[in-house]
Parts: sequence; C-alpha cells; structure tokens
Amino acid sequence: MLKKFLLAIAAFILFCLLVVAGYVAYISATWQKDYSAIEKPAIQASTDPEVIKRGEYVAHALAHCSICHAPLEATMNRKPGDRPAMPGGFEWKMGPVGTLYSRNITPDNETGIGAWTDGELARAIKWGIGKDGKALTFMVFSAPALADEDLLAVVSYLRSTAPVKQQNKPHDVGFLGKWMASLAGPDFRKPFFEGLKYAPPAAEPSIERGAYLARGPAACIGCHSPFDMMSMKVSGAEFSGNTQAEPDKDDENMVYRIPNLTPDPKTGHIAKWDEESFVKRFQAGRVYKSSKMPWEAFREMSDADMRSVYRYLKTLPPAVHYVGASHRPASEDPEKDPR
Ligand code: HEC
Ligand code: HEC
Repeated sequence: MLKKFLLAIAAFILFCLLVVAGYVAYISATWQKDYSAIEKPAIQASTDPEVIKRGEYVAHALAHCSICHAPLEATMNRKPGDRPAMPGGFEWKMGPVGTLYSRNITPDNETGIGAWTDGELARAIKWGIGKDGKALTFMVFSAPALADEDLLAVVSYLRSTAPVKQQNKPHDVGFLGKWMASLAGPDFRKPFFEGLKYAPPAAEPSIERGAYLARGPAACIGCHSPFDMMSMKVSGAEFSGNTQAEPDKDDENMVYRIPNLTPDPKTGHIAKWDEESFVKRFQAGRVYKSSKMPWEAFREMSDADMRSVYRYLKTLPPAVHYVGASHRPASEDPEKDPR
C-alpha cells in the first residue's frame, strides 16, 4: 500500500518536472519571434544641417540615446556640450534576465548601422525590431516614443556621425529575459504613441511642447508611472511615481524609488517647487551616481523645453500616491505612509 502511494507521488513529481522542463524548452525555442512583416517607416535621411542639428539634440539631450549607447565612462565624465560617440558596449547585468550589451549605432559598415537602410533604422528606433526582423527586447522596453519628425531627425543625425569600428559582445539572455521577450513585442510600444502629438521646438515654453516631451522623447512617463510587470502595463495614475525599488549599486543598504510628479499637494514630489527651482534642479544634473534618471542628457535641455515640461506636469490631475524619499534605506516599507 505504502509502496504504491510513494510510487504515485514519485510519478506525480516526475510529471511536474517534465511539464516545467517542457515549458522552459518551449520558451527557449520560441522567444525570438519574427516581426519582419511590420512595416518600415517611410523615412529618408536628410542632409539638411538644420534637421541634423535637431537630431543631435534629440539623441543627446531629449531622448538620451547616448546615455545607453555610449560607454558609461563617457557619460559619467560628460560635460555640457560633449557629444559622446555611440559605439555601444554599455553592459547591463540583470541577474536571471541576463547580461545585455548596447549596440554600435555609429555608421560603421561592419559593426554598426552603416549597412542598415533608413527604414530599418527607423523601425528599430520606433518599434524595437532589428534588421533581421527579430525583436530588440531592450529597445522594445526602453526606447522613448518619437514623433516621425524627431525620428527623421535622429536617423539623419546618426548617419552624419563618424563611424567607429567596435564589435560588441552578444547578449547572454537568461530564462527570465526570454520569458519577458516572449510576452512583449512591438505591441507593447503602441500605447506610448496613442495621443502623442508632436509640438516643434520653440523659443517660448508651452504646455503642448511639455506634453510631447514628457510623454514622448524624454519618457518621463515611462519611469515615473506605476508599472505592473505581469501585465506589462502602466498600472495606476500616469506620472504618479513608482514604488518598486531599484537597488543603489554603490550602496547595498540603499534603494531608489521614483517620485510622484503630479501636483498632489501632499504626495507630489515637486508640488511645492516653483518653475525656477525646477529649472535649477535640471541644470544641476546628477546627485546619485547610479540613479537611472538620465540627468547628463536632461541637463542639456533648452530653457524653453525645461519650462514646457514643468508647465505640463502642473496641468496633470493630482494623484494621491505616496512614494516617499527617492533615495532611502532598503529596509523602509515602500507602501507605509508615515504622515
Ligand atoms: C535605456 C537604454 C537605451 C536607450 C535610452 C536607447 N537604447 Fe538603443 N539599444 C539599447 C540596447 C540594450 C540595445 C540592444 C537591444 C537588443 O538587442 O535587444 C539597443 C539597440 C538599438 C538599435 C539596434 C542596433 C543593432 O545593431 O541591433 C538601434 C538602431 C538603437 N538601439 C538606436 C537607439 C536610438 C536612436 C535611441 C534614442 C532615440 C536609443 N537607441 C535609445 C539600449 C538603449
Ligand atoms: C530612466 C528612468 C527615468 C526617466 C526617463 C526620468 N526619471 Fe526622473 N527620476 C528617476 C529616478 C530613479 C529618480 C530618483 C533618483 C534621482 O533623483 O536621481 C528620479 C528623480 C526625479 C526628480 C526628483 C529630483 C530631486 O532632486 O528631488 C524629478 C523632479 C524628476 N525625476 C523629474 C523627471 C522628469 C521631468 C523627467 C522627464 C523629463 C524624468 N524625471 C525622467 C528616473 C527617471
């Protein structure tokens, strides 16, 4: 009797292991889906110096491409006006997600984007799809949403930069990374383009320009909103902050939490800041070495663009969402509002 019972349990455990192994094998074989049917934006790089200049501003200030595509050292030593080359190689060690390396986006023919067509390049930046039609998973999640005007400017600028020969290491994608990639393809990016309305740069600040920047190229909305990893969606009031902790790489006892930018008088981080304080904070740049906020890029936003972002944030519906200090001991309960 007991022997039969033990045998049944052993068979059940074996069955469960086989199901898990089957699922792991299935994801490992199918995570890189083919998206080559997705249309390439009809964009042709321009050689107009005005367009290239705008693209330089988008790539280095607004959409912070160079924060990820230049070596970390170049970013950390970056002075206002520096335009670091973007040969990639920046490394992200993300535990079970894997280790990823940013790519060479200088126009070198062998190791960069020299041999890509304008359409392939525009599709990679807009939808996170590679030249081979497979998803560029990290770009799917992290590339800012650009209106076609800015997409054209960035593609034109990349073409105008000096080629750098640098072959980067292949990604080492872990099971969790493959699983995430199997869930989130270019569809994940669609909501960020819905209602995104281009407003051109102007000498005078405007709420419309602020809305475009905060929701589009500067991607404040991506980091500063609650996000649910299971459904891969913004999971609360937009811009109301994110309580999920990011460890401070330089101090294991500390974490970052991303502040609420809505004008709620009690829980809004900048509710009491006036426009001048906001501009001064942006011009001052980085305070915490390992913070993910791309301060080196935003520091170079034009005065009018900084003011536009501030004015737009002031028009948001105030959202009551306690996030607390953005840099604080890991032991503090993120949801416990001490007030
Ligand atoms: C948060 C970091 C991050 C930001 C910001 C970012 N990238 Fe990327 N980018 C990456 C990573 C990592 C990859 C490799 C993705 C992969 O293979 O899954 C990549 C891949 C690419 C590729 C494909 C290159 C290749 O050889 O496959 C292009 C083109 C690109 N990025 C352009 C841009 C541009 C232009 C911007 C700014 C508008 C930008 N990226 C912003 C991290 C970033
Ligand atoms: C890649 C993620 C990311 C993006 C994009 C981002 N932030 Fe942040 N932000 C953070 C993190 C993390 C912190 C907390 C650590 C710090 O202050 O550097 C932060 C902090 C802040 C603070 C508080 C600074 C202080 O000194 O109290 C403000 C204000 C802010 N962000 C505004 C913005 C605005 C406006 C945008 C868009 C123009 C933006 N952020 C885009 C991640 C991001």
